Amino acid sequence: MSLLSELLSDADGLEPEAVDHLQLLLSDWQTLADLSFADLLLFVARGGPPDTDADTIAPPADAAYICVGQIRPYTAQTIYTEDLVGQVFPAAERPMVGRAFRERRVMRDTDPDWSTGVPVREEAIPVCFGGRVIAVVTREANVATARSPSQLELTYLQSAGELAQMLADGTFPYASYHTGEERELSPRVGDGIMRVDASGTVVYASPNAISAYRRLGSLDNVIGQHLADFDPAHHEMLEGLADGEPVENEVERGGAVVLRRVLPLVRDAHVVAGLLLVREVTELRRHERALRLKDATIREIHHRVKNNLQTVASLLRLQGRRLRTPESKAALAESVRRISSIALVHETLSEESRQKVDFGIVAGRIVDMLADGLTDPGAPIDFRRVGEPGDLPADVATPLALVLSELLQNCVEHAFPLSELGEDGPPGPTGGRGSGGADLEATGPIVVTAEGPARRGHVLVHFERGPSTLRVAVADDGVGMPEGLPPQKVANLGLQIARTLVESELGGTFSTLPGDDEPAAGFAPLGGTTIELVLPLP
Ligand SMILES: Nc1ncnc2c1ncn2[C@@H]1O[C@H](COP(=O)(O)OP(=O)(O)O)[C@@H](O)[C@H]1O
Ligand SMILES: [Mg+2]
Repeated sequence: MSLLSELLSDADGLEPEAVDHLQLLLSDWQTLADLSFADLLLFVARGGPPDTDADTIAPPADAAYICVGQIRPYTAQTIYTEDLVGQVFPAAERPMVGRAFRERRVMRDTDPDWSTGVPVREEAIPVCFGGRVIAVVTREANVATARSPSQLELTYLQSAGELAQMLADGTFPYASYHTGEERELSPRVGDGIMRVDASGTVVYASPNAISAYRRLGSLDNVIGQHLADFDPAHHEMLEGLADGEPVENEVERGGAVVLRRVLPLVRDAHVVAGLLLVREVTELRRHERALRLKDATIREIHHRVKNNLQTVASLLRLQGRRLRTPESKAALAESVRRISSIALVHETLSEESRQKVDFGIVAGRIVDMLADGLTDPGAPIDFRRVGEPGDLPADVATPLALVLSELLQNCVEHAFPLSELGEDGPPGPTGGRGSGGADLEATGPIVVTAEGPARRGHVLVHFERGPSTLRVAVADDGVGMPEGLPPQKVANLGLQIARTLVESELGGTFSTLPGDDEPAAGFAPLGGTTIELVLPLP
């Protein structure tokens, strides 16, 4: 719920469309504040808008107005250093607001109010919607700082007056104005302003606006010229102007990029003039382009690293085929798997436009790779993932991918040995690599799958992401680690690599459960081997 709707729940009596209208106003009233050199406050009446039929009746004694919006001008000093949003004002303190509600017209103060220490001229503008006043905007300007106005200031004030009148007529904020993603870039009054007449001829242009058009190549003075004569992309703007619809678009020429926003000024259903807010964004766009290019380059490099690693893996695979001894074949196959795991991280990085990887994707790919590598595609090992690892920086993801690949490979290789399945081995193994599963004697848990009862091995990868740690557990329901030996003793190259990467490279802990550590909270081992890692996150 937005702040506005929260505040408005106190001022019930406004229908949702009216609330939307106020929301729209809040997203678009900076222009009015800037043109007016004034602070704007938005008030609603407590208990909903007063009955507009009772025009002449004074508000009840306990009437009050709630300030639901406040904005300060970029073009002048603010009057209110404090935040007034949420504050409730008794009606007697804000007589102009009450009059604007009742009389439905813009109310002007004749004498400045000195209560804040500086002379403040206040104006109250009714906000009309659906034929009634739903709120009131006050415009409060410090008149002490007012100088003899320049043409720029006169243009601002004239346009501000027209916008204020549109607010009272219900034609501002513009219904078709959408709050797009590019809002921060949207030109503001201070960026550069032009005033055109209803046909599109420039009546006034601020120095910034003139400079922006000079960058686009219009070297003549634009004042007195028609938009079509000097704006390379005037069609949409002129259409918007004719239809009374605000338009914002971007034009590029000669390397310069300029954003223009057209605000048609409407009176009695006729467009009387148009305001153009003009902002040169050449540098900004150039910067964005450079960033995009850099991003694409980094991704391209990850892509190439991945390709190169895959080439190395293929070369090793080729070489492996020529070897005779099973040990050397196996050793090369291990290396191929390790290199491929690293390649998977680079592949994932090459697909993302940030320097982080969604490790869930990497984990999924490692599992797929190992499942593909099983000699029999129907091998009954179920891999399951619980929890999300989330995003990890590349320097954590790469070692972790290797570790995960070692642990999963061990499950595939050691947890469900073939010999255990065919013979009257100890109960526990519940499936096997390359075995049909279904014709085996059921000595372990039975899992009913779509194809009917089958004995399967289960491997679970469990991720638990905390605020500053990532817990990873890999568990299987296989034969378990060899009896009697501490895990450090059984460790071959695979577990050694895994442990070293976790402890030295990642600064985490590596434990075999149950055994050298208490089982992790909320995580029950499956009965075979469980290895748990806890990694600190940067
Ligand atoms: N999930 C597991 N289930 C049963 N035994 C395992 C498991 N993981 C590792 N082991 C045992 O630990 C030993 C060492 O593993 P590792 O260091 O990866 O070397 P390798 O896989 O090359 O034998 C394995 O040979 C195996 O006996
Ligand atoms: Mg191994």
